[in-house]
Amino acid sequence: MEEQRAWWKECVVYQIYPRSFQDSNGDGIGDLNGIRSRLDYLKDLGIDVIWLSPVYQSPGDDNGYDISDYKAVMDVFGTMEDFDCLLAEIHHRGMKLVMDLVVNHTSDEHAWFAESRRSRDNPYRDYYIWKEPVNEGPPNNWASRFRGPAWEYDGRTGMYYLHIYSKKQPDLNWENPRVRQEIYEMMTWWGNKGIDGFRMDVISMLSKDQRFPDGVLKEGNPYGDGLPYYANGPRIHAYLQEMNREVLSRFDWMTVGEGVGVGTREAVQYAGYESHELNMMFHFEHVELNPGPFGKWNDNPVCLRDLKKVLSRWQTELEGKAWNSLFWENHDYPRAVSRFGNDSPGFWELSAKMLAVCLYMMKGTPYIYQGQELGMTNFQGSSLEDFQDIEIHHVYREMVGSGRISHEEMMRYINHTGRDNARTPMQWDDTEQAGFTDGTPWLRVNPNHTWLNVKEQAGRSDSVLCFYKQLIKLRHTMDILVYGAYRLLLEESGAIFAYERSLGKERLTVLCNFTDRTQKSGLSVRELGAGTILIGNYPDRRGISQGDAVALCEEDICLRPYEAIVFMQ
Ligand code: NOJ
Repeated sequence: MEEQRAWWKECVVYQIYPRSFQDSNGDGIGDLNGIRSRLDYLKDLGIDVIWLSPVYQSPGDDNGYDISDYKAVMDVFGTMEDFDCLLAEIHHRGMKLVMDLVVNHTSDEHAWFAESRRSRDNPYRDYYIWKEPVNEGPPNNWASRFRGPAWEYDGRTGMYYLHIYSKKQPDLNWENPRVRQEIYEMMTWWGNKGIDGFRMDVISMLSKDQRFPDGVLKEGNPYGDGLPYYANGPRIHAYLQEMNREVLSRFDWMTVGEGVGVGTREAVQYAGYESHELNMMFHFEHVELNPGPFGKWNDNPVCLRDLKKVLSRWQTELEGKAWNSLFWENHDYPRAVSRFGNDSPGFWELSAKMLAVCLYMMKGTPYIYQGQELGMTNFQGSSLEDFQDIEIHHVYREMVGSGRISHEEMMRYINHTGRDNARTPMQWDDTEQAGFTDGTPWLRVNPNHTWLNVKEQAGRSDSVLCFYKQLIKLRHTMDILVYGAYRLLLEESGAIFAYERSLGKERLTVLCNFTDRTQKSGLSVRELGAGTILIGNYPDRRGISQGDAVALCEEDICLRPYEAIVFMQ
């Protein structure tokens, strides 16, 4: 079946984490005017859509994912006039802006919650989820996703409220139609301002199982896993269809939902072409492979066969039914080159480019997280003071504080998977604070900014940055890259990720070596059909017909360490 065209299928998205992108006033925190000053950089990169992580009024307990006023801008980021100006400048350059929508919870400093906690009969009481104590303790055993219990006792009314994240992020009660109407009105207000869509924070968690059953206990955690009772809950699709009717269908928007606990089956429900809910979902299966006994806190390597399996499953199971989103990084995950590639000096650049080819030649909308286009790497901290993230602080206190693991072991894990790896300031140049700020940055700049920065890469045609530009250009000019069907090749290989895309009579083949050794692919040029090389990360690959390295071993194409090649047949 021929895929329907849509602008959000053809665009390339760039995520900005505003605290860390560009500071304009020397307070060490990125801001809206800073972003405005970098729009030409994004346009030049080829970006179509900017996804802006939250800039709303917030006490900043979870860096803005705890909103105290949905219709105001947080002081450190600027003013609403600055926002309007930014939006106008983005549109002026022919780009679009997608905002973050955080409506599973608010801040405890939101006016609704201040009212809600006041008394049991306050008109806002049912905006949140309040429960009586059970056996003088919380209503059930659910864990917060930031560790500890998911319920907080409030002495004023003698009841508990639910907070799946920090206790300063109380969960909204979506069962209450007034809550839903308030949210739809707020979304419409932003729509009327002219934004171009929403990325929806933990959208799969809005509907809670109203029986609130205990979750399964896992070794080493005194709190139970409530995920099965709050992810993909009983009324989630009714809510999203209602949201679609009342708001989304009125705008020409792009919508992408954060799919905690979402597999391919669920994704087809949320983002199916017939679902009338969202355009696409983010899933996390590929970035959460190989967890250890402490879940995401590990330093395990990723097995390529598992990675291939997961990404291929998402490609094939959504084919013709729903649209994929493609991402390696965001503000919650470590840097891809450190996790899936190789950030040692000899291989950093090759593997950063290889990862870009591997993912962005697939079917779906590409999302690039700030700095990924440079191959920014993880940051190595040695003490808790090096980190700001609430999740890191909570987990450290719980795991090291209780003596379960040593400081050294925890640091290894934080340096491998912690969220602050992605949140270090954007590396614009080699000056003291990487051109991010004139002041003291809120989070330390990665010391490698002296050689890994925009200024150095912009002036070098074989840089990671220039490579990203080429890839984006290809996505913009070749329908096969957007709409072509996907087929995995070399399924059994533990070293090479290979696949084919096809559209009508066109076909292209992507070959990526995930190792630091030369690998024979077992594929011959003859088998793949005559053709040219569309893009590759080794400069000496020019085209099969020109008698270069590919032609020399055409009976068995050899891929050098971290080599990526795309053949067009
Ligand atoms: C997902 C966001 O991406 C993350 O940064 C945040 O901490 C949680 N949702 C809670 O809003």
